[in-house]
Amino acid sequence: MSYDLVVIGAGPGGYVCAIRAAQLGLKVAIVEKRKTYGGTCLNVGCIPSKALLHASEMFEMAGHELPHFGVVVGKPKLDHVALMKHKDDTVAANVNGVAFLLKKNKVTTVQGAGAILAAGQVEVTAEDGSKQVLETKNIVIATGSDVATPPGVAVEFDEKVICSSTGALALDKVPAKLIVIGAGVIGLELGSVWRRLGAEVTVVEYLDRILPGMDGEVVKTFQRTLEKQGMKLHLSSKVTAVEKGKKGGKVTFEPVAGGEAQTLEADVVLVATGRRPYTDGLGLEAAGVAMDRGRIVIDEHFRANVAGIYAIGDVVRGPMLAHKAEDEGLAVAEIIAGQHGHVNYEVIPGVVYTTPEIAAVGATEEDLKARGIAYKAGKFPFTANGRARAMRVADGFVKVLADAATDRVLGVHIIGHAAGELIAEAAVLMEFGGSAEDLARTCHAHPTLSEAVKEAAMAVDKRQIHM
Ligand code: NAI
Repeated sequence: MSYDLVVIGAGPGGYVCAIRAAQLGLKVAIVEKRKTYGGTCLNVGCIPSKALLHASEMFEMAGHELPHFGVVVGKPKLDHVALMKHKDDTVAANVNGVAFLLKKNKVTTVQGAGAILAAGQVEVTAEDGSKQVLETKNIVIATGSDVATPPGVAVEFDEKVICSSTGALALDKVPAKLIVIGAGVIGLELGSVWRRLGAEVTVVEYLDRILPGMDGEVVKTFQRTLEKQGMKLHLSSKVTAVEKGKKGGKVTFEPVAGGEAQTLEADVVLVATGRRPYTDGLGLEAAGVAMDRGRIVIDEHFRANVAGIYAIGDVVRGPMLAHKAEDEGLAVAEIIAGQHGHVNYEVIPGVVYTTPEIAAVGATEEDLKARGIAYKAGKFPFTANGRARAMRVADGFVKVLADAATDRVLGVHIIGHAAGELIAEAAVLMEFGGSAEDLARTCHAHPTLSEAVKEAAMAVDKRQIHM
């Protein structure tokens, strides 16, 4: 049996690529070593975390918010088993959905670990050790990423006391104390889940700010909000040891600028200091595939240096985001099928699913200053938005950054309720090269949160109405 395309890895990059290639008439197989499809995102990442984020938000709302709406329900009680069942059911529905879609599109699924023998040959080793070789014209590597530990710190994950995000999604009870190492997306999202459910959460972060890469003004606002919510933040603090103590975990850290080390103990420690490209056992070195700091080197058409081998998603350059991998999967499938697939890296939204949410697309003010690009900023707060007030979600703002000379929108940053949904219109606008005036002159329904986006675009030209 010979294929046009064998995809290795069935995460959001790989399965989307396989389906698109099959739609375009290619004969496709996908190799996956997990028992279920969807990769980290669906099994132990985006989807289960969003199930817990939503449930914990409802819990906090029941306890603190509902009385303000005249809804009196008494003190909420957490049913931990039901909480985890909601998460597991959500994951099951999603991974089964992917299995259905692969079948519907006639993609051959092969269970086992894939390795590249040579261009055109993928060896698959099943769980029972049996091997088969798939012959193919093209190979797409979409094997994603794995947890990275802080440099120089030996971490032994037991996923009960010393956890990666995988363990922190499946704790068997709410920890009294949780230490989170790393104030990135994973640390703040999962830290928020367990804080809302009652844990005392302390975050230790190396940098002097949280959420590296996000707009500085948004981050400052968010940092204050997190502290108001009761999260303790130790910034400019370098973790030097993570150990198991008598009862829980122990974390030792010291000021980055030098000074005395301190040790904190907690029931659970979550290590969220980033992820690394996962290429273990793929046989890339033997196949002669060029790498750069663990990532597969590709050209603008996703081609590795060996003919017939392509790579997408977390194993290549760019942000480690499911939707970036998906778009690369679509593009590479189209390229292999002889079309002109393309990804616009200037317009990849990023969302942090905390309360409030944070969403961004395009350049930050810091980026524009560093690049010497003159820009105008328009800002509008949700306190001046009627719908936000009615929903008691008036924290935060929208900021639109537009080129000073052309008015073209270069970046949009939102901190506020449903920011992750609101950012989509900014992405569409930017994909079409739209200006702040285009956005300002587009009719937005009233009363909606999206009016704040329109008003921020109007504010670029200082002609906002409601402020
Ligand atoms: P991250 O790279 O976002 O943050 C890691 C943080 O750990 C950084 O702030 C870093 O300065 C800090 N750190 C590193 N070494 C340290 C040390 N020794 N002591 C103290 N702090 C230290 O990584 P994270 O949160 O683990 O996420 C991994 C990947 O998954 C990211 O690429 C992220 O974009 C992606 N992701 C995206 C989500 C979303 O889009 N909502 C959700 C979850 C993950």
